[in-house]
Amino acid sequence: MSAPLVAPSVLSADLVRLGEELRAMEDAGADWHHLDVMDGAFVPNLTFGPLLVAAARRASTGFLDVHLMINDPLTYGLECAKAGADLVSFHFEATPHVHRVLTALKAAGVRTGLALTPSTPVEVLEPVLNYLDLAVIMGVNPGFGGQEFIPETPAKVRRLKSLLAGRAILIEVDGGVAEDNARELLAAGTDVLVSGSRLYGAPDYRAAVAALKKTGGQP
Ligand code: DX5
Ligand code: ZN
Repeated sequence: MSAPLVAPSVLSADLVRLGEELRAMEDAGADWHHLDVMDGAFVPNLTFGPLLVAAARRASTGFLDVHLMINDPLTYGLECAKAGADLVSFHFEATPHVHRVLTALKAAGVRTGLALTPSTPVEVLEPVLNYLDLAVIMGVNPGFGGQEFIPETPAKVRRLKSLLAGRAILIEVDGGVAEDNARELLAAGTDVLVSGSRLYGAPDYRAAVAALKKTGGQP
């Protein structure tokens, strides 16, 4: 087990000070920035879109991991790629045209991810594994930060890890991640831990990032 990549979710940052917040998390040892795009339709919440991705791109050279929770991942996925995203994930449940969206994003030169809500089995990823850089297992129902972790999530990660059979696809867990479940998630095969409220809500970013990293073994 090695230290996970840690991706603070900008959803819980102070957006008035976006640039400062991104830099503070980078200085604290965070690996990626996670940006939650919501459309008020696929999920019952509205956040931000390509404009904020572009603002983050201007403010930071860090890795921008965009998580689309929207019904039109093709249009806005390509917009986010243009805005400077390094990776764009969208939801399997949002479109009947998963393969089309994945190939369009790849053609745009961006890394791709597919996210699954808690009730979607990992087996749906099997037909599109060749087009994926990341698989996102939700630890909560998507829509809001600060929700309680769904306890079946580590078992789902274990099933995904065996489905991937050694392929170079990273496993990300998003939602409800905390020190007390991170160890089990990492043991199950998780590579990237997203955390919003617990990282951006922490008084000391460095200590909070280090605490998550430490769950993977040596600091
Ligand atoms: C939930 C979002 C998550 C959220 C995580 O729909 O996709 O990325 O920001 O927040 P926490 O870590 O507070 O559960
Ligand atoms: Zn997210």
